[in-house]
Amino acid sequence: MNIPYFEIERGAPAGVAVLGVPVFSDLTTTPEAGAEIDRGFLAQRRFEGQPGQAIALLADDGSTVVALGVGCRESVDANAVRLAGGALARNAGDAETVATTLTASWPEHAQAVVEGIGLGAYRFDGSGNGRNGKAPVKLERAVLVGRNGIRAAVERGRVGVEATSRARDWVNLPPRSLTPRELARLTVEAAEKVGAEVEVWDEARIADERLGALMGVAAGASEPPRLIRVRHIPSSRPRARIALVGKGITFDSGGLSLKPAQSMMTMKDDMGGAAAVIAATLALAELDVRVEVDGWVAATENMPSGTAIHPGDVLTARNGTTIEVLNTDAEGRLVLADALSLAVESEPDAVIDVATLTGGQRVALGTALSAVMGTDAELVRRVVAAGEAAGEPCWELPLFSSYRKDLDSEVADLRNVTAKPDASTIMAGLFLKEFTAGRPWAHLDIAAPAWAESETALTRKGGTGWGARTLIELVSGLSARRLSG
Ligand code: BES
Ligand code: MN
Ligand code: ZN
Repeated sequence: MNIPYFEIERGAPAGVAVLGVPVFSDLTTTPEAGAEIDRGFLAQRRFEGQPGQAIALLADDGSTVVALGVGCRESVDANAVRLAGGALARNAGDAETVATTLTASWPEHAQAVVEGIGLGAYRFDGSGNGRNGKAPVKLERAVLVGRNGIRAAVERGRVGVEATSRARDWVNLPPRSLTPRELARLTVEAAEKVGAEVEVWDEARIADERLGALMGVAAGASEPPRLIRVRHIPSSRPRARIALVGKGITFDSGGLSLKPAQSMMTMKDDMGGAAAVIAATLALAELDVRVEVDGWVAATENMPSGTAIHPGDVLTARNGTTIEVLNTDAEGRLVLADALSLAVESEPDAVIDVATLTGGQRVALGTALSAVMGTDAELVRRVVAAGEAAGEPCWELPLFSSYRKDLDSEVADLRNVTAKPDASTIMAGLFLKEFTAGRPWAHLDIAAPAWAESETALTRKGGTGWGARTLIELVSGLSARRLSG
């Protein structure tokens, strides 16, 4: 993680080698831009001023001005300036310091500018045995031209970048490195720095606590499972008590229902939900938001072996529900069954789970939208709004109750897959609902958005950290009263 140091200055500082200035789609700029823009040159280079688009121009004094597209003058929003910030970081060459007047023109979107610069500058270099000889380009400092009033927004932006970068790093680590035990260790290490509380259950405690579904998934692995609970207790009286739940499959081979090789290539990302939940909880602790946050992560590998569960086995989850496992590759809903059961025991005002749960999510919505389902319309509305604000949009799918009977089993309370592959994202949601004990609940299926196959201004190939900033935005704005009303 190399997050630039963000500074606020009244005017564009002298001697900064790279200055990012906004340019609208009509190739004009703002009064605060701080540099002249050669419209003819931009037009000739086919610059259209779209958010995320950028061109570096050499100024008379030898410094570089980067024209940052922000779209139409009337429709500049947080998402546009976030992309512009990302484009600035990507077009800074090997400069150690950049400055921008985006924050002078849109002080109300200062948080998004910071997020854009920070996420655009992200690069994974933490695997130890990574690529040799490729020195990371380091953007060390970003000067935000603007007033002191943006300070709190800049700090929120920085904390969001830190959370997303941490989630990306954890997804990007090879599965031999990022085991359930290592995920727990990294959580403890990071929590100490922000004063969050962590509890880690080992395999003996997991058995004592009757987490039979998690134990079933873990049965085939040589690496032991872990149950991780990370909590933020605010320093002043909380407005609400929220539980977060993350799917923490550190590698999903499918188990005995083995995946084909092609489908397994990205399956180190199957703890993306867990990473988002842990990173967001730590961020909420760092911001000391006035909401109590109880984060639960069920972490295990899903591996085939002589000790693995068989299709046909029956598991008993924490809440007593019995589950016939007919496909060991539908393991996420199994570990979430136990984690959700635990999370609702303390009767939180709302429960939100995040999981790379189904390939069907990609079929339905693609890589730029996650799926949301839930039992409380107001909570779902707030999740959708938080995702939109964070630049991680989601779209609601129905928990269509007529489909519930397809999860009936001959030998148990539930089967973990239906006979047909239809509506797999909804079927997984209906399965999870059985473990939420009627609490207000929302479920985010981030299967496709958790991983990027191509670059954008804000993401590199690999883990995207999707969901962390949605959760921070959502939880920061929740209060028990407004949820029940
Ligand atoms: N981890 C996968 C879902 C997934 C697929 C995430 C592609 C990211 C990209 C999950 O455990 C899984 O295997 N789901 C199965 C369920 C099926 C067997 C009902 C799926 O969606 O194919
Ligand atoms: Mn699976
Ligand atoms: Zn999985």
